[in-house]
Amino acid sequence: MARLDVTERFHAISFPGHLHTQESLQLALGFPFQDTDVLIVSYPKSGTTWMQEIVTLISSRGDPHLNQTVPNWTRAPWLEQYYCAAVLGASSATPRVITTHLPYHLLAPTLQGSRAKVIYVSRNPKDVVVSFYHFHKMANFLPEAGTFEEFLNRFLEGTLNFGSWFDHFKGWTNQTASMDNLLHITYEEMSLDLHGAIKRVSSFLQCPLVEDEVNNCVQHCSFSKMKNNKMVNYTLITNDIIDHSKGSFMRKGKTGDWKNMFTVEQNQYFESVFTSKMHDCNLEFVWEVQDKEENFSVTAV
Ligand code: A3P
Repeated sequence: MARLDVTERFHAISFPGHLHTQESLQLALGFPFQDTDVLIVSYPKSGTTWMQEIVTLISSRGDPHLNQTVPNWTRAPWLEQYYCAAVLGASSATPRVITTHLPYHLLAPTLQGSRAKVIYVSRNPKDVVVSFYHFHKMANFLPEAGTFEEFLNRFLEGTLNFGSWFDHFKGWTNQTASMDNLLHITYEEMSLDLHGAIKRVSSFLQCPLVEDEVNNCVQHCSFSKMKNNKMVNYTLITNDIIDHSKGSFMRKGKTGDWKNMFTVEQNQYFESVFTSKMHDCNLEFVWEVQDKEENFSVTAV
């Protein structure tokens, strides 16, 4: 399946026609979750791949064998992509680990009543838009990125592929009070204290690990390990689909990189849109991670 120039419109959201079809998107909405499933949910560029790596490592008690031999899209396929049913059908893994970028309102009916464990990963949207911009330049299945100014406007309008970050974030995080099977964790928390984040995820998954196992997980999902692991750095994907001469999927892996990209005016505009769109969201945002020595804490919001 190439379909690099195809865009699918589904429930007023654009999805890349590469890997997404009307049928695969529709199937996702009625997916029969099992109570043992683990569902990783994120808006793109929020730390999805990192969480896939963490969950695989936790399930393997820190043993990196699976991470180093099976691509992430086979270990934790995207629910809405066309190959998902075939991958899950061929696997006997328990728990099944599934990934999705779909917004809450689309999955709510099929998730209702399910005890599947849902992990929502979010990231400072300013870093998300910068990471997504760079990814658009190398991903031939995404529309032209244009200038950063244009791209930022499309992000703030919610017209990029995968829809509005604001709707996605609010839709999922609004459920944290009512869904005790939903864990919200941030990229920033993982950056600041990966060891603590892994313990939090393993406890949520009811898969407690001994200290050595946690340490092994930490070691194998560091940025440098993942950057060099072809099962997760997307270099298995051919250049016609992802042009590796134009960048790297494992790009910087930092918090606050937006400061290298935003102008003062763009930041002011972002802040004004953010304030207006998030007025009905009373979560605390801790997205500015300082040096570890400064002992800043990141709370899951
Ligand atoms: P950058 O482009 O800012 O470097 P996703 O998997 O949701 O598409 O997110 C990709 C982003 O997560 C990229 O951000 C990538 O570098 C970052 N990332 C992936 N693994 C990471 C890790 N182990 N540590 C820090 N950042 C990581």
